[in-house]
Amino acid sequence: MNSDLIAKAVEARDKARAPYSTFNVGAAIQTRDGQIFTGCNIESASYGLSVCAERVALWKALSEGARDFREIAVVTDAEKLTSPCGGCRQLLWEYCGDITVSLHSLKGEHAEYKLGSLLPHAFDKRSL
Ligand code: THU
Repeated sequence: MNSDLIAKAVEARDKARAPYSTFNVGAAIQTRDGQIFTGCNIESASYGLSVCAERVALWKALSEGARDFREIAVVTDAEKLTSPCGGCRQLLWEYCGDITVSLHSLKGEHAEYKLGSLLPHAFDKRSL
């Protein structure tokens, strides 16, 4: 368990802007050389414009020039662990490949998956 990465995702979750769902999510993505970029979900009154925590973290990392990733942590306080939505799985796969996805709940649950197991038979540039 990557406790440092989870701690960063916990901190990021405190910054969530989710007044419509009240479902606060924090994420932290780590490069192979140890850099960490965080994100929280940010919602809009025009609901479809809302962005998941994972995507905020990924966009921050990519826009800062980070390229080679090893793990993303996702934190909520839900009873059941929160796994990235389909759209985030697709984007993580395209930009990070088969990274570790570490799911953590403030209620104490924890699980880890390889992204490839969450998105089998993925569509990506090799499919074009
Ligand atoms: N959400 C995330 O940020 N990440 C997930 O993995 C699942 C869902 C957000 C989107 C929305 O702001 C709220 O949680 C409820 O769906």
